[in-house]
Amino acid sequence: EKIYIGVDLGGTAIKVGICNEEGQLLHTYEGPTEVAKGPETIVDNIERYVRLIVEQSPFEWEQVAGVGAGVAGFTNVREGIILLAPNVGLKDFPIRKILEDRLGKPIKIDNDANVAALGEAWSGAGKGIDNCVCFTLGTGVGGGIIIDGKIYQGFSGLAGELGHISVVPDLEAIQCGCGKIGCLETVSSATGIIRMANDAVSRGERTSLSLVENITAKDVFDSAKAGDEVATRIVNRAAFYLGKALAAVAVVLNPELYIVGGGVSKAGDFLFNEIRSVFAKLTPEPVQQGLKIVPAILGNDAGMVGAAGLFLRS
Ligand code: BGC
Ligand code: NA
Ligand code: ZN
Repeated sequence: EKIYIGVDLGGTAIKVGICNEEGQLLHTYEGPTEVAKGPETIVDNIERYVRLIVEQSPFEWEQVAGVGAGVAGFTNVREGIILLAPNVGLKDFPIRKILEDRLGKPIKIDNDANVAALGEAWSGAGKGIDNCVCFTLGTGVGGGIIIDGKIYQGFSGLAGELGHISVVPDLEAIQCGCGKIGCLETVSSATGIIRMANDAVSRGERTSLSLVENITAKDVFDSAKAGDEVATRIVNRAAFYLGKALAAVAVVLNPELYIVGGGVSKAGDFLFNEIRSVFAKLTPEPVQQGLKIVPAILGNDAGMVGAAGLFLRS
């Protein structure tokens, strides 16, 4: 029996999963990325976690037919190079070649949100739907476009970098990790929400958040749900710009389904209702017909399943 390993390389954690040929996740392992220690350590960690999970499982190393990795950054899929991953501290990094040399297995790499989209389309919220677009709201904002059941790559594998759609007007725009200004990621990521909250507190605005030490995105949602006006304004701003991006992408791609995942999406209906209402306000009626906006269902597993899926579904 062959197995495939899916790796989800993010700024905080590296998640590794063993999948069978049906794409079922059988075993998982998670360890720290240790970005601060640099590229060499990151690669050491990937190798260590991959070998460890196989050792801990009933499978043999010989059964590993391939290792797929989703990486949180601009990724040239054809060349197997991470062009720029600010949250992982990597730039022009030939990850595929390095992992091939270290693991001696066929390696496929792609963007983290692309593989999460593939995972959701395959066995999650998009099961049975051929054309869907996925947004992941976490440390950054990621995107993945699935057309006819496959990841749409574009000219050099950079299609679907939806977190960098420029949506915020210049006067209010701040710089993004990509170096440009006004990106969706600057307002609709957990990082963006936390920044807006901290700014409001330092401006001395009246909010329950001023009592919170080390504000998290969840704190902001909790305060908003409890009726805090400042927190509500921040959540609505994050939802507004996401709704605006959904509207823009809808007229370009005419998807059947939007899947919104990542930690921030756990805010649930509170966030989704606002996104849906903004989307409805900005999108032409015919394009809205039949289009649903739903939360992701694979949660933290989507990346691992989709990364293994690079072998099974392409
Ligand atoms: C990166 C994307 C990534 C997303 C989610 C963004 O900052 O540019 O490549 O998919 O974060 O991790
Ligand atoms: Na992407
Ligand atoms: Zn950007």
